[in-house]
Amino acid sequence: MIRSVVRGTGAALPRRIMKNADFEGMVETSDEWIAQRTGIRQRHIAADDETTASLGEAAARAALADAGLTPDDIDLIVLATSTPNNTFPATAVEIQNRLGMHHGFAFDMQAVCSGFVYAVTTADLYIRGGLARRVLVIGSETFSRILDWNDRSTCVLFGDGAGALVVEAGEGAGTIADRGVLAASLRSDGAHKDKLFVDGGPSTTGTVGHLRMEGREVFKHAVGMITDVIEATFSAAGIAADDLDWFVPHQANKRIIDASAKKLGIAEQKVVVTVNLHGNTSAASVPLALSVAVADGRIKKGDLVLLEAMGGGFTWGAVLVRW
Ligand code: UT7
Repeated sequence: MIRSVVRGTGAALPRRIMKNADFEGMVETSDEWIAQRTGIRQRHIAADDETTASLGEAAARAALADAGLTPDDIDLIVLATSTPNNTFPATAVEIQNRLGMHHGFAFDMQAVCSGFVYAVTTADLYIRGGLARRVLVIGSETFSRILDWNDRSTCVLFGDGAGALVVEAGEGAGTIADRGVLAASLRSDGAHKDKLFVDGGPSTTGTVGHLRMEGREVFKHAVGMITDVIEATFSAAGIAADDLDWFVPHQANKRIIDASAKKLGIAEQKVVVTVNLHGNTSAASVPLALSVAVADGRIKKGDLVLLEAMGGGFTWGAVLVRW
């Protein structure tokens, strides 16, 4: 059977690093509060010339170089983002043009923090359906542009950045020993819309709006939703937590990551954590964490890797990949 095999990873971060202490003169907060409640120590913040398209392009170029491929080899770009450069056209199309790619097709996916997990699943279906052979899957965000910088309950949590994978059609035997995407489970429930949303949009206010979150409410739902969707993925693949080599969760809060891993019985040393370095970068958080763990040699060819995310909507999902 056809499998969607990961060939390359890449990442891009804005030049400017903002430390927790840098917020202390702006809003009533402290390095100690942010670090203890979230695990975040710093985040990258985009300058005016750094956009979702430019960061996405840089991450895509890095993933292509890692795969030993060029834009000519790609036939689809799927970009997960909630902070596009423009309402339309899709920022994926802008990245396609920046890459000098005038064949194939490109589109954006909007599932907030779960965007990358949705995008990998979508790329896998396009590959297995025969509509694409090589796909650039990108998560790129500039959440700094939609933050209310006077709201201490949200502005300290998010950061900017991008990560990308090149995924290519390969042959598999149809077992979990195959390399590639092995199983996925996606969920959403719009009943939770008001717990995490942006208070603007083209069809309502005609403005971009700012991020609003009832953090405690999101926290309350997160661990249960994450563990449910991971258990569904385990059961679809016929595996257990012990079979995993690496758990690469959405990087929103270290306490959510720890509680989810504990509930699932995933050993602490198998969990990739980058929330301390990047903050919550929404759809970019999973591919950024992947790129760190691939670059430092933790994730290797043949490893069984579980990706997971949960965010606005609510949306949530998990994907199991043999690297
Ligand atoms: O990526 C999408 C998914 N998003 C998430 O997963 C986020 C989920 N939520 C969280 O990570 C946590 O709920 C937060 C980190 C947002 C907040 O942590 P918490 O432990 O749930 O704190 P809290 O909201 O219950 O607030 C505790 C106190 C409050 O003061 P009072 O009411 O107890 O007097 C807040 O006003 O902390 C206060 N607070 C702050 N204090 C200092 C809120 N933000 C700050 C701040 N600095 N930045």
